[in-house]
Amino acid sequence: MTGSGSAAPSRALDNQDISHFVDTSDEWIASRTGIRQRRLAQPDQSLKTIAAAAARNALEMAGITPLDVDLIILATSTPDDLFGTASQIQAELGATKAVAFDLTAACSGFVFGMVTAAQFIHTGAYQTVLLIGADLLSRWVDWSDRRTCVLFGDGAGAIVMQANPDINHLLGFELRSDGTQNSCLTLAYQPQPRELTAETIVGQGNFQPIQMNGQEVYRFAVKKVPEVIEKALFRAELSVAQVDWLVLHQANQRILDAVADRLGIPAVKVISNMARYGNTSAASIPIALDEVVREGRIKPGDVIAASGFGAGLTWGATIFRWGK
Ligand code: COA
Repeated sequence: MTGSGSAAPSRALDNQDISHFVDTSDEWIASRTGIRQRRLAQPDQSLKTIAAAAARNALEMAGITPLDVDLIILATSTPDDLFGTASQIQAELGATKAVAFDLTAACSGFVFGMVTAAQFIHTGAYQTVLLIGADLLSRWVDWSDRRTCVLFGDGAGAIVMQANPDINHLLGFELRSDGTQNSCLTLAYQPQPRELTAETIVGQGNFQPIQMNGQEVYRFAVKKVPEVIEKALFRAELSVAQVDWLVLHQANQRILDAVADRLGIPAVKVISNMARYGNTSAASIPIALDEVVREGRIKPGDVIAASGFGAGLTWGATIFRWGK
């Protein structure tokens, strides 16, 4: 784990601003979620440009150039192009030797991407992987629905993962999916029948804004996230006390507090920046990680427990050591 970077649109929308177009208040949002503002991409900004900015920062920290990258994985649910945005980022960076693809696992995307990247490194297929988590959920939020629109924001984070023949820094992981609970959180395609001939009708439609059962998702996260972290720690042969930092998907401060409490991890080890970004989906873990790395709080050798959870439903945890 040799470099990190992040980027977010400069336009900020605070809770007070939201109270001007839906019936809510700063007090309600902050006390229920810990969120105070979120960054929003403007219509002329793309996932590609924000993700590429985060990627450049990560490459710079790692001390490598785009030409050194073998593989780019873009974890996103909000591509600029449904055929994938990773290749556009590859071109934007000039990473001409890299193969690039998108990976979709909603708010778990970064954790799923880290494990995917590690498999390519462990087999010896690739030496240097650029893993990006980026989402612009503002494109897909129903801005008239106060139950969801207050939660989400836009941003991108990235890390560089490089082969080290001597040490494996991905110490343990556990990934899970449960499609039976898919309806708890969706951004679903809704087809409209379109008749081509008397016998042939195709379904052409649009994706519908985010729908969420907040209480179900809350219960799921608080129960499943500690379990999966404990499992990943078991695989890493580490105890909870050996975790230096807990970097959870930044969905809700109450979820962070409850998970840390269940695991017995003290608040000083829990990274939280959601007050400033809201829930940025696949970007939330790498943005939080990058901020703390750049503050110098996370140091080379520190053990990090990261966990993503969200739509799918998907959830997972990785235990890794920061640094070369
Ligand atoms: N402002 C003011 N009132 C709001 C509101 C808002 N933004 N959103 C909902 N309310 C109201 C509801 O309409 C409801 O009113 P009613 O009792 O008159 O019907 C009341 O607040 C309570 O709603 P409820 O849904 O029970 O609130 P909650 O305590 O469960 O908190 C969430 C709602 C969304 C903050 C919480 O469920 C949550 O964080 N869930 C997890 C969501 C998440 O993290 N999703 C992403 C995962 S990747």
